[in-house]
Amino acid sequence: MKNRLSRLIQTDGKALFLPIDHGYFQGPTRKLEKPGETIKPIVQYADALMLTRGVLRNCVDPAMNKPVILRVSGGTSVVGEDLANEAITTSVEEIIRLNASAVSMSVFVGSKYEHQSLTNLAKLVDACEDYGIPVMAVTAVGKELEKRTARYLALCCRIAAELGARVVKTYYCEDGFEKVVEGCPVPVVIAGGPKTETQREVFDFVYDGMQKGAIGVNLGRNIWQTEHPVAAIRAIRAIIHDNYTPEEAQSLFEQVKAGKT
Ligand code: 5RP
Repeated sequence: MKNRLSRLIQTDGKALFLPIDHGYFQGPTRKLEKPGETIKPIVQYADALMLTRGVLRNCVDPAMNKPVILRVSGGTSVVGEDLANEAITTSVEEIIRLNASAVSMSVFVGSKYEHQSLTNLAKLVDACEDYGIPVMAVTAVGKELEKRTARYLALCCRIAAELGARVVKTYYCEDGFEKVVEGCPVPVVIAGGPKTETQREVFDFVYDGMQKGAIGVNLGRNIWQTEHPVAAIRAIRAIIHDNYTPEEAQSLFEQVKAGKT
């Protein structure tokens, strides 16, 4: 367990996870039509890659030396009835065979499928702990993005940790994010959400979230859907691992964009 966790969370206690699992419920997402191409220039700046077994098998070079967080929940789609109605989609044997450093699954607290997703989490933890595989719980809100308040997120994170998640991924919220982290006894990483208007907004929320106790991010669209993914990931990495302020990150972003570094 410790060995796998230490592949994900670096010696400074921080982490930058790069998720490319969006196709599992929304199909060929913009700029992720060919995941192997999307990650080529940016994966070197990530600490781990989060993806499904299908993309891992078909789009990623098996020689890639980057820890994998395998998305193992699914079974729903954006055109289906309810995104919360997920099941576990990958066996423990397959998780081990694919040499995953961790697995991740979504929980939908407060939804019609709350009980199902939470007991799925508990069962996955039981199965994975036997083999020392950490489970990262994703506190998902489906299409209801307005749910992302500190009170709700704190509830979700704490429940996920109580059920045995080793890491929790949750959304950032401007008011009270520190309470979300304080109430969660395991490390919290910040999810990205839909692409923001400006790159600076991302630097601001990542920085603020880190100041309030998050250990890093699990951030996808705000990296690979941007015009300058390499500049974006390098600037975000600098906030996480080199304590850059949003201003310094913006300056690094501009320099990388201009090909000056
Ligand atoms: C969906 C996920 C995705 O990995 C996550 O949403 C990805 O990142 P982003 O929102 O930053 O594109 O877990 O539930």
